[in-house]
Order: sequence, then C-alpha cells, then structure tokens
Amino acid sequence: MTSYRVQQLLHEGKAKRVFATDRDDLVAVEFKDDATAFNAQKKAQLQGKGALNCRISALIFEYLSAAGVPTHYLGVDGTNWMLVRPVQIVPIEVVVRNVAAGSLCRQLPIAAGTALQPPLLDLYYKDDALGDPLLTEARLQRLALLSPQQLKALEQLAFQINDELRTLFERCRLQLVDFKVELGFTATGELVLADEISPDTCRLWDRGQSDPKGRILDKDRFRQDLGGVIEAYGEVLKRVQGQCPKPRVYG
Ligand code: TMP
Ligand code: ASP
Repeated sequence: MTSYRVQQLLHEGKAKRVFATDRDDLVAVEFKDDATAFNAQKKAQLQGKGALNCRISALIFEYLSAAGVPTHYLGVDGTNWMLVRPVQIVPIEVVVRNVAAGSLCRQLPIAAGTALQPPLLDLYYKDDALGDPLLTEARLQRLALLSPQQLKALEQLAFQINDELRTLFERCRLQLVDFKVELGFTATGELVLADEISPDTCRLWDRGQSDPKGRILDKDRFRQDLGGVIEAYGEVLKRVQGQCPKPRVYG
C-alpha cells in the first residue's frame, strides 16, 4: 500500500478528471460516468461507466506492462481512481485501424468491415475546438510537436500496442477493429502509453456473434443509439478479467 493525498484539479476532460497529489511522482485520475460522442455534441450520464472503464483500463495496462509496453500506469484505488506517473501528454490522438469502420469509411471509399493489412495508422491533432483534424506528415513537421526520432518511436509504440492488444482481445474472443491511444513523455523523457484503453477508445466486436449490430461491445452502442452500453462494457470487463494480471492497489 502507498499512501497519498489527492490535491488540486489539474485537468478535466470529457470522461476523466486529473488531480495532483502530495507526491511528485503520483497523479490521480478519476473516471467519470459522462459519455460523449461527436465532439461532445451528444452527451449522457451512464451510471457505472467510470468504474467499468477504470477497471478495464487497469487490467489492460497491467497486461501491457507485463508484455514490456512502457505505460504511465501504477495502480488503482477504489472503483473509479487510477494512479499514474505524471506525463506530458503529446497532443496527438494516435489511431490504429485493423478493420475499416467509423470515420475512415465516411471519408474514403473503403467499405466498412474491410480488413486492413498492414494496419493503418492515423494521427489527429488533439484539439476539441478544431475538431481533432487529421494530420499529414507535412503538417506534423510544421507544428514541430515531435522530432523525427520521437515520431518514429511513437509509430513503433503504436504498432507494438496494437500487436499486444490484438493477442489479448483474441483470447477474449473479441475482434479489435480499431483504437485510439494517447502517449506522453515522463520527466526523464521516456515515451509511454497514457490516458486509458477501454470500450470508449476501442472498437470491439464479439467473435461469437455475426449480427453487425449485436456484435458491437463498445462506444458505438452509444454513438448509434443501440442501447445496452453498460451491459456491453460489463461483458468486455468479464472477458479481459480472465486474461490479465490483477490491478495493483494503492491507498
Ligand atoms: P473514428 O472512426 O471516429 O476515427 O475512431 C477511431 C477509433 O478511435 C475508435 O476506436 C474510437 C476512437 N476514438 C476515441 O477514442 N476518441 C475520439 O475522440 C474519436 C473520434 C475516436
Ligand atoms: N470522444 C469524442 C467525444 O466525446 C468522440 C467520440 O468518441 O466519438 O466527442
């Protein structure tokens, strides 16, 4: 057990609040029940979502850490709190796509469900006011957010995370269609996985179901008004629980 005290709010996002603690090496993240989609044009409160995403993320971070993926994750405290290392978040939404879905099919003539081999990496500039625009290599260079070496490290880490997540989810009889991650730099300049990995940030299809709507076990249930959002997240939790180390407990 590591004791700490939660202090001031550092940042409030759509699904989480980030707090400083009385320890320099520890930041506390509270997972909220707020659900948003389409850049927060659609909003709801889904009771229990925060706790489910906190638990699912913790289990997945434990799994990825054990597989050698560097993360900001340290442990959990109670149902909705995660303890992490302080990081400087790179303002890039890193999306890896294994199967065509969502915005890719709206923006390009690629049929939904098309397998993408090799997987497609899409980088978006993280800025709600600008609607998280898709980045090009030239735009990335112009913004000078990362050195060429750091960009290479980001791409490698994204594909490593995809490989590990695909293996994990296949064991859970879930198809990893696509996902978004955020990465950050630690105080010593190490690039690590940060934020969360949950049904809010992944598209997951139940391998045991062929019905195109019935198989959806992620936030698309909320985006498309399919109902059963919390039940779907609960099913994901049940399945990952069997495949991941138990989360370390703080507090
Ligand atoms: P997209 O199809 O809308 O581009 O989404 C790709 C993946 O990224 C999908 O798994 C959902 C996730 N995602 C987020 O986690 N946050 C976001 O703000 C968006 C737009 C997508
Ligand atoms: N996370 C984004 C929002 O809250 C978009 C999405 O996930 O669809 O609006």
